[in-house]
Amino acid sequence: MMDRPEIDLTGKVALITGGGGGIGRASALALAAAGADIAIIEVIPERCDEVVAQVEAMGRRALAISGNVMESDVVRGAVEATASHFGRLDILVNNAGGVTWRAFSDLAEKNWRRHIDLNLISNLAATSSAIPHMIAAGGGAIVNVTSIEASRAAPGYAVYAACKAGINNLTRTLAVELSEHGIRVNSIAPDFTLTPGVQGNFTGPVDESKWPLKSGETNEVLRRRIPAGRPGIDTECGNLVAFLSSSLASYITGTIIPVDGGTWASGGWIRSDSGKWVLPPEMS
Ligand SMILES: NC(=O)c1ccc[n+]([C@@H]2O[C@H](COP(=O)([O-])OP(=O)(O)OC[C@H]3O[C@@H](n4cnc5c(N)ncnc54)[C@H](O)[C@@H]3O)[C@@H](O)[C@H]2O)c1
Repeated sequence: MMDRPEIDLTGKVALITGGGGGIGRASALALAAAGADIAIIEVIPERCDEVVAQVEAMGRRALAISGNVMESDVVRGAVEATASHFGRLDILVNNAGGVTWRAFSDLAEKNWRRHIDLNLISNLAATSSAIPHMIAAGGGAIVNVTSIEASRAAPGYAVYAACKAGINNLTRTLAVELSEHGIRVNSIAPDFTLTPGVQGNFTGPVDESKWPLKSGETNEVLRRRIPAGRPGIDTECGNLVAFLSSSLASYITGTIIPVDGGTWASGGWIRSDSGKWVLPPEMS
């Protein structure tokens, strides 16, 4: 009889950027639940402490690194600190990122550069520093958190979307370049997922009790637009990150996997009043 397959990351070490909240925190906790020791780099210190406490309560070792991933020296330092603290690095989750809405024609060059530093350079810095440690460990897994906006037009989010599209192709390219070292590289591409950032909780601890409820109107738009009929939950991304990091995904590399309730597949089709799928403006 075959054993029941399970995600087992016992003895592995993972570093998650922006691991104090949202998809990063959910990834850290899913990886820890599967047995990995965890380092996070996070710009809000109390979020570091909270996630470290949760990981330790699960019986794993944890390292909090307070820092801003927009400084590539800090990112490189976080990779080195992780490898030196735990003696190895097997898994890198390039999660930190973000965007503010503004028409491209209103963005100044300093805004482009901030988006690029946060969403692209941070990933390059962490990845390039992590590779030698993964080679030394005999292989590894890199999981990038991109976005549905990497694969479709994203009005108001042009530079962010360009960065995420860049990471999608970086994923494919590095999957090929690093294959000989046993390093797999994949991306997850969320759509609308309830996280502190989406809920305006940009400072202090993650506090879901203070998050505004979505209005009935917003929920109705989400129900019509997302085949699953609801927003995503951060743990739904974290679970996929843990799977892609594990030997259950040993033959999966160079992929971009949507975690979007079917939105990308629906490609503009909307759920009508009758429940039938239509292309706007035919709404009923
Ligand atoms: N939530 C969504 O709907 C959604 C959709 C598509 C893609 N994404 C992507 O998922 C990733 C995580 O998004 P989220 O919604 O969980 O974000 P979030 O803002 O809820 O959480 C991000 C965490 O990273 C930390 N962080 C932010 N900037 C940082 C920096 N410069 N240095 C260190 N830490 C930093 C934050 O403090 C926070 O704890 C991002 O790359 C984002 O682009 C999110």
